[in-house]
Order: sequence, then C-alpha cells, then structure tokens
Amino acid sequence: MTRKFSAAAETELKDILDDFPNKKSALLMVLRLVEREFGMIDDGGMELAAATCEVSVAHVLGMVSFYTHFKRPFHGKHRFMVCATLMCSIGGPSGKCDQSLAVIHRRLGIAPGECTEDGLFSVEKVECLADCNRPPVIQKDNDHHVNITDALLEELIDSLLTREGRSKEHYAGQKGIAMNARIPSISVKQTVPGPQGIR
Ligand code: FES
Repeated sequence: MTRKFSAAAETELKDILDDFPNKKSALLMVLRLVEREFGMIDDGGMELAAATCEVSVAHVLGMVSFYTHFKRPFHGKHRFMVCATLMCSIGGPSGKCDQSLAVIHRRLGIAPGECTEDGLFSVEKVECLADCNRPPVIQKDNDHHVNITDALLEELIDSLLTREGRSKEHYAGQKGIAMNARIPSISVKQTVPGPQGIR
C-alpha cells in the first residue's frame, strides 16, 4: 500500500479514532476523511481505509458501495444527485424531479447513471435527501439545493460551465456514458488481515 494521509489528515485521523471504541467502528468517518483528502474514494483510498481500520478491503468495499453518497472514480467531477423519492416525484410549486432531470439532460446530454464523455459532469437519481417539504431537492457535489426551479438549475449549470471553460452549447448533441457504478475494481492484492485473519 503506497497511499498515505497528509500530516494534517493524520492529526484529524487521530481525533476520529479517539472518538470510537475500536478502529473498525470508525470506518465511516475514516472513509469521509479519505474522501476529503483525495477528492474521492478509489482503490488506493479503500486500501488505506482498510489498513487504518484493520479490516479487509472487501469490508470497506461493502461499506462504500452500500452508502452511495461517497464520491467514486466513476462519478463526474461535478456530480448531480436528484432526489427521486415520493415528494420530489410528486413535486411542488417549484417543480418536480423529472423537470430537473430534463434540464440536466438538455444542457449536459446526460441521463441518470451517466457521465459526460470528458468526465466533468454526472447525474444520478437518489433516495430521499431529507428535505421532503421543499421539493424538488438536488445536491451538486456537497451543495444542497431545495425548491429548485428550472431557472435556478439553468443558472447553476451556466456557472459551472463558465468555471470549467465550457460554452453554454458545449454538450449540445453529445451523449452521456454509463457510469459502471456496480463494477468494483480492486487492483492491488489485499494484504491487511480482516477481523478473523481473512486475507
Ligand atoms: S422525497 Fe425528496 S427530499 Fe425527501
């Protein structure tokens, strides 16, 4: 394993581990630290989390694939998560989730489960984002947006395109690429023993 935490992250890690009765129980918080430190959780990040918490990489993968909010390598740099649970499906005065998905598709060429070819943007339908009385609700990376209207979403996309040096028409006519979200890849042989010594 070659991945290491920075000195600052090591300090944070010590605080996290101090808060839990054992290393295994700190795994979720350690994964959040890995995500912040490296911008996503890739194979190297999972191995680092496994070694830190003294669990198998398979155990870490199970956690990372269950909690779909974690940023993974197959997601776009900018990740749209559109709540498609009941209240956002029914919608409110601002609109409903299908409208948000339609705006994202029209502007960026991506449907749920897809990423733009250049890897800049991806979109997913997700379960309830815990703001059911203010539909439709979306998250863009770590930003939470409620009562999102088509116009607000257009503005958000425009500002992201400008930030990334793309014209407003850049993705017109392009098709998205499926994110292979369900295909994990552990490229490095696991060397950390699991709780029962499993290798
Ligand atoms: S149903 Fe969309 S936030 Fe709960």
